[in-house]
Amino acid sequence: MEFSIKSGSPEKQRSACVVVGVFEPRKLTLAAELLDNAARNHLSDIIRRGDMEGKSGSTLLLHNVPGTLCDRVLLVGLGKEKEFGDKEYCDAVRSAVRTLNETGSFDGTVFLTETSVRKRSAAWRVRQATIVAQETVYRFDQFKSKKDKVRRPLRKLTFVVDRRNELATAEEALNQGQAIAEGMALAKNLANLPANVCTPTYLAEIAQKLAAEHKLDCQILDSDEMAALGMQSLLAVAKGSQQPPRLIILQHKGGKADDKPVVLVGKGVTFDSGGISIKPAAEMDEMKYDMCGAAGVLGTIKAAAMMKLPINLTVIVPSTENMPGGAATRPGDIVTSMSGQTIEILNTDAEGRLILCDALTYAARFEPDILIDVATLTGACVVALGHVATGLFANNDTLARELLHAGDEAHDRAWQMPLWDDYQELLKSPFADMANIGGRWGGSITAACFLSRFTRKYVWAHLDIAGTAWKSGTDKGATGRPVPLLMHYLLKRVGILN
Ligand code: BES
Ligand code: MN
Ligand code: ZN
Repeated sequence: MEFSIKSGSPEKQRSACVVVGVFEPRKLTLAAELLDNAARNHLSDIIRRGDMEGKSGSTLLLHNVPGTLCDRVLLVGLGKEKEFGDKEYCDAVRSAVRTLNETGSFDGTVFLTETSVRKRSAAWRVRQATIVAQETVYRFDQFKSKKDKVRRPLRKLTFVVDRRNELATAEEALNQGQAIAEGMALAKNLANLPANVCTPTYLAEIAQKLAAEHKLDCQILDSDEMAALGMQSLLAVAKGSQQPPRLIILQHKGGKADDKPVVLVGKGVTFDSGGISIKPAAEMDEMKYDMCGAAGVLGTIKAAAMMKLPINLTVIVPSTENMPGGAATRPGDIVTSMSGQTIEILNTDAEGRLILCDALTYAARFEPDILIDVATLTGACVVALGHVATGLFANNDTLARELLHAGDEAHDRAWQMPLWDDYQELLKSPFADMANIGGRWGGSITAACFLSRFTRKYVWAHLDIAGTAWKSGTDKGATGRPVPLLMHYLLKRVGILN
């Protein structure tokens, strides 16, 4: 879709559809009022008759509105003015774009971006609208032989800002929104692919393509190279699979040569059957999404490269399948990780931490300024936080605070969980330095505690996206999270978030 920014009045727009908001109960926004004046109370008459109450997310499409130059007017309910916040704003944009796309408008001029949202800037409104619009028209139908085609899909959106002096910042916000949306689309596309297509080898090829398109440095390690580095923990997970594992390293060098990089590490288990500690059959298909951490960090580096962010950003993806088989790791097996610490693998389904720990040890050679790992790590995190918040763990309070704030700004929120030493003893093993599981309780915390034993050399945060990276049920699909959170963190860090 094509996007643009302008300022102007709604009655003078020549597009296929002009979109304006209505608050509950029956209160016109400024833009709606201007239209209403030009149309000699046509809108207020309709609203008085009760056809549009202003309920959040509701829409009413009007044709032949007198006194205007556009083909149609779309009224969008915004809910109560006092309660108009992030969620209501995003819901309004989503309903508007869905309606435009389904009712044959070629282009739309959206005045919702003029309406103030609690605590948010005009730039925020434009950035968010761009992301939500792209999200709304996203389809993953490459495996459908007959695509359900939208007859005349929406091709062009114009966002209106209320003052001319806002145009430049709005343009910049639009570009940021588009790059974030592109990063999210890459993350979603990779994640939605079935595991017979999206293998570790495939992810490595995608990384190489990204590197070629965006001038990134790319390095791919195979199992021999990983063995030479001593990554026995990562390789223990790969042993049961016919698919060879890969360690992917991508670098965007947008900063000064001696700037220490931000390092992102993403869990790339392309299918998690559980291994010998095999999972139950129900919903096991969803374990193709166990590479959403990888997809998220690849999407993030794509967005950062598109924006040419002045920052050094390194992405590391340990990727493997977790399968049962004659060569697979057994419960009780003991391995020596790259760090030298030994691990008793009591449950082969706790494989994410086994591949991450070696990637985290390897990451130290990049001397990260900060490191964030992203992983669909534990079912326990979904129990704790549901599908709304990502679990956040950190060994540094400043980094935790900044990430929480970025999540809030991006409406891609995280919630901090404890990493207290009191939990560490749950990982005791009678035979090795640690076990890979911590028992029944506090499963997302003991998983994070396990990782913390490999991140002592740098400032580190861990995002458990098990509940937020994809949706189950009828609208099954990847969400693109936490690309928005990570991008807002990076934008803020380089000081270009308005
Ligand atoms: N990939 C799963 C975590 C997961 C499960 C994410 C369900 C989303 C939905 C991870 O590898 C796993 O299997 N974790 C186990 C750990 C346990 C064996 C300690 C879990 O959460 O059950
Ligand atoms: Mn598992
Ligand atoms: Zn897993």
